[in-house]
Amino acid sequence: MKQKISPSILASDMLNLGNEIKKVENSGAEYVHIDIMDGRFVPNISFGMPIISAVRGCTDLVLDVHAMIVEPDAYIDEFIKCGADILTFHYEALDNERIVRAIEKIKLLGKRVGISIKPKTNAEVLYPYIKDIDMVLVMTVEPGFGGQKFMEDTMDKVRKIREYANSIGKELDIQVDGGINDSTIKIASDAGANVFVLGTGFFKAEKPLTASEILSKTL
Ligand code: DX5
Ligand code: ZN
Repeated sequence: MKQKISPSILASDMLNLGNEIKKVENSGAEYVHIDIMDGRFVPNISFGMPIISAVRGCTDLVLDVHAMIVEPDAYIDEFIKCGADILTFHYEALDNERIVRAIEKIKLLGKRVGISIKPKTNAEVLYPYIKDIDMVLVMTVEPGFGGQKFMEDTMDKVRKIREYANSIGKELDIQVDGGINDSTIKIASDAGANVFVLGTGFFKAEKPLTASEILSKTL
């Protein structure tokens, strides 16, 4: 699978968001990761629709929206209206019936769909959905905050999901999110991940990094 980085604007300078997006464009990254938090699904509140719209207004990059909210299915239309290209919601936030309907709806609206699991959620719960979705996001920290330490024990789940996807002949993007840096990116890539979210690792880096410099660390 093609490797990509997805810089998370949670770690960016919000007052200069336009310039921060330019940095992402100049790096050669293809995605921008936008973390939506509601203070209920996770114990933190980040930002919502106006930020997605603002980013959409200043770039053609793929907007990779990660919804860490309760009832994400209630906001699908709005996320997409604001400019989401990939919409990832959490497995833990919905029951099976609503997950199935959310997948259908996002696809019907012509967008890519991802499902995320928190560190304590097993990989197997996603198997019934994998044939129908574009991406799995395996959280490598407890969702809610940037700057946390990568949890290496989540790599078993990445391996299992990659094996399962291969076994059914599915080209699945596997994204990892949380604590990705120069050394953990290789661990995640070796396990089978191909889309790497970097918040701190991108926006707080000492010097501007290109996507290919970051991806070269997977070698
Ligand atoms: C955490 C968010 C992440 C966060 C990652 O809940 O989902 O996307 O921005 O930040 P770093 O790369 O600093 O761990
Ligand atoms: Zn995220």
